[in-house]
Amino acid sequence: MDLIPAPLSLAQAAGSGGYDLTAATALTGGAGAEPVAAWLRAELGAATGLPLLPGPAGIALAVDETLAAEGYRLVVDADGVRLTGGSPAGLFWGAQTLRQLLGPQAYRRGALPLDGWSLPHLVVEDAPRFGWRGLLLDVARHFLPKADVLRYVDLMAAHKLNVLHLHLTDDQGWRVEIRRYPRLTEVGSWRERSMVGFRDGERRDDRPHGGYYTQDDLREIVAYAAARHITVVPEIDIPGHSQAAIAAYPELGNHDVVDTTALRTFTDWGINPNVLNVEDGTLRFYEHVLEEVLELFPSTFVHLGGDECPKQQWRASAAAQARIKELGLADEDELQSWFIRHFDRWLAERGRRLIGWDEILEGGLAAGAAVSSWRGYEGGIAAARAGHDVVMCPEQHVYLDHRESARADEPIPVGYVRTLEDVYRYEPLPPELRQDAAAAGHVIGTQANLWTEFMDDARSVDYHAFPRVAAFAEVAWSDLPREPEARDWEGFADRMATHYARLDAMGVEYRHPDGPRPWQTRPGVLGRPHDGRP
Ligand code: ACM
Repeated sequence: MDLIPAPLSLAQAAGSGGYDLTAATALTGGAGAEPVAAWLRAELGAATGLPLLPGPAGIALAVDETLAAEGYRLVVDADGVRLTGGSPAGLFWGAQTLRQLLGPQAYRRGALPLDGWSLPHLVVEDAPRFGWRGLLLDVARHFLPKADVLRYVDLMAAHKLNVLHLHLTDDQGWRVEIRRYPRLTEVGSWRERSMVGFRDGERRDDRPHGGYYTQDDLREIVAYAAARHITVVPEIDIPGHSQAAIAAYPELGNHDVVDTTALRTFTDWGINPNVLNVEDGTLRFYEHVLEEVLELFPSTFVHLGGDECPKQQWRASAAAQARIKELGLADEDELQSWFIRHFDRWLAERGRRLIGWDEILEGGLAAGAAVSSWRGYEGGIAAARAGHDVVMCPEQHVYLDHRESARADEPIPVGYVRTLEDVYRYEPLPPELRQDAAAAGHVIGTQANLWTEFMDDARSVDYHAFPRVAAFAEVAWSDLPREPEARDWEGFADRMATHYARLDAMGVEYRHPDGPRPWQTRPGVLGRPHDGRP
């Protein structure tokens, strides 16, 4: 049956038969289950051409609160299908399993002339290992059109992933409409040209790049995701990675150090010295931005970045130095910490929680804030031991912009080699935390990150994301052995044969196991591969 991610348990009676879906098969949701039933009816109805109307027999969905909240139980026998979930979310993940059991053609959006549809008699009992099963889409470096974001929501749902981290702002683009500050998108949502590949290749495309989501677009994405039990966590990256905002509003930058009126939305990749200033006006500006962000995104967590903030402008800025003195801070690192803590408090006062990249640990972190551990496990270990919640996303393991093989023709090869097998053997909980139940409990989940400097369209995002997202989903959901070498890679690879057919039916342009197709290569575009293993 080749389920991905693998369920906790699956029992099938030997020689048992199947349950056929026909024009007479009913699909019914009990109290609280009707929205998931409606989703399943729409998806399977399109793929099968069957009406699957409510009725007394057939496929019955119900909430059973004795199950784990995101857990489900699926029973198929001669009488039909009974799917129960601990909550509508659990039911939804169970519905994903049911869809996988119908075969790859169940992922099409129109019906093919097929002989029939059958589900094997079985019992599946399942629940996720982690509550945060995330995917980051960097829509700032290259804009991903709304239709593709919605498609990624569906792809996440099919893999039982439940947190979409949208990296909405960076030096190279500001992608969220803010009513109070229209220049953020008028100016900041596009750049004049883009670097192509790594800097040393000295290639540019001389083609404007841009795009942004209106507030209604984002409301639509959030609602579409919520209907699929996926939370959208917005990221507004401060105080570094902010040149697009400074290009729009030069008063946000360190104007006593550089002529910020001359700055444009950044057209290079890499870390940028043009960071926010620390004036009261900048704090107020971002509070205003966040007021609108909170209106759009109901998620408890709001990501405020905090990564890669070079300090040279603060060192040179009389205003920043005066702020350090006024606050009695030791240095620029403490200044960054003060800046982040200001917004940590501001979010907490509004019932939200700050999450940021692991740099926010430096200089101390307010209680309640959470950490995305990206520079390795270390930040996450320190944060968890200090009582902060942690999402593990170490770049050495789950940065999906990193190359999928050591072949020279991997499109724009950057970072470490991270094959499908490597991702399958990635373990979110490092040995240092396994003996410490309290700290381990703070690892609320894991996330794979798709940074898009070297992915300029949805097709190249597909290539980098898949098939590795399938392995990542199993790591995040399934109860795999904690020791990477104890994992059944061959078994997973066998199941992938079926899963590739599902991805084909969904129209995903994944990396084929044989390597990139000719049109997926980028001959002559220089990357930046790291040598050796992580
Ligand atoms: C990051 O990759 N700078 C979070």
